[in-house]
Amino acid sequence: MDTIAVIGAGQMGAGIAQVAAVSGLRVLLADRDQALADKAKSGIGKRLARLVEKEKMGSDQADAALARIETLVDYAPMAEAQLIVEAATEREEIKRSIFEAAGKVLAEDAILASNTSSIPITRMAANVPDPTRFIGLHFFNPVPVMKLIEIIPGLATAPATVERMRAFAAHLGKEVVTSEDEPGFIVNRILMPMINEAVFALGNGTATMRDIDTACRLGLNHPMGPLELADFIGLDTCLEITRVLFHGTGDTKYRPAPLLVKYVEAGWLGKKSGKGFYDYSGEQPVPTR
Ligand code: 3HC
Repeated sequence: MDTIAVIGAGQMGAGIAQVAAVSGLRVLLADRDQALADKAKSGIGKRLARLVEKEKMGSDQADAALARIETLVDYAPMAEAQLIVEAATEREEIKRSIFEAAGKVLAEDAILASNTSSIPITRMAANVPDPTRFIGLHFFNPVPVMKLIEIIPGLATAPATVERMRAFAAHLGKEVVTSEDEPGFIVNRILMPMINEAVFALGNGTATMRDIDTACRLGLNHPMGPLELADFIGLDTCLEITRVLFHGTGDTKYRPAPLLVKYVEAGWLGKKSGKGFYDYSGEQPVPTR
């Protein structure tokens, strides 16, 4: 493999582009707007510069990695990619339209992968040219730091596609786990009920926001408490995944906490909007309740 394409230049897409470029691959990074793709590339440049400052990477290596990333809007050049990774917003209709457009340029033997965190792969395979070459490839945020990739074959995914994605993950220096195509796969099936329960506890007045987070950081050795982590992931994304678990299983144990719904309806989406469970407008995050 020498060229991959990444569709969606948000925090996940940019992270995937960064690790792929650092690993020596040429990366075509696309978004619906050239300015968004360019902004993502300049963000990657800043993160690589920080790695150089910390002496974790040589400046030549960082420059070469950045030069391997090409930003674009038009999908036509993706015909040169052996892998196209969709990392767009977690909304099924958006992903479906991307698969349709990418499917038109996908090379004969290339793989189309989705970084979805919870939408069924088998269902989305209905919109791709060849379901045997379609697969879930779920990265974790921040992509350059998190070692894991979940691989999710759909019902029709060929074993050879799984093997090629294992090799790709190994090339990036990531560890792989494979999951059946079930709601939430492995990590989010376990993580989202924890975050949701933390929001119920907050809503019930069980403890303060800081104490819930401190309890999990110090009592479980988690790097972030669940409310802090929810802000980091995005409360809209947490709600979306919790709803997929709830509707996908029909089990009421996954019903979203009313307070989580309220925060999302208020537009308090976490770090990316400047306010979620914590307010990020000052030097230090301050609890909103
Ligand atoms: N991008 C790239 N690198 C980053 C980064 C980012 N956004 N944020 C932090 N880092 C790097 C830093 O450069 C630093 O690298 P170094 O050790 O080589 O110098 C390292 O991570 C540690 O960073 P800091 O010292 O600044 O901060 P922390 O020690 O507090 O770590 C953290 C930050 C890595 C984000 C840590 O708090 C953490 O691991 N949190 C949990 C993250 C997590 O659970 N992610 C999974 C979310 S679920 C998901 O993604 C699935 C989806 O479907 C919802």
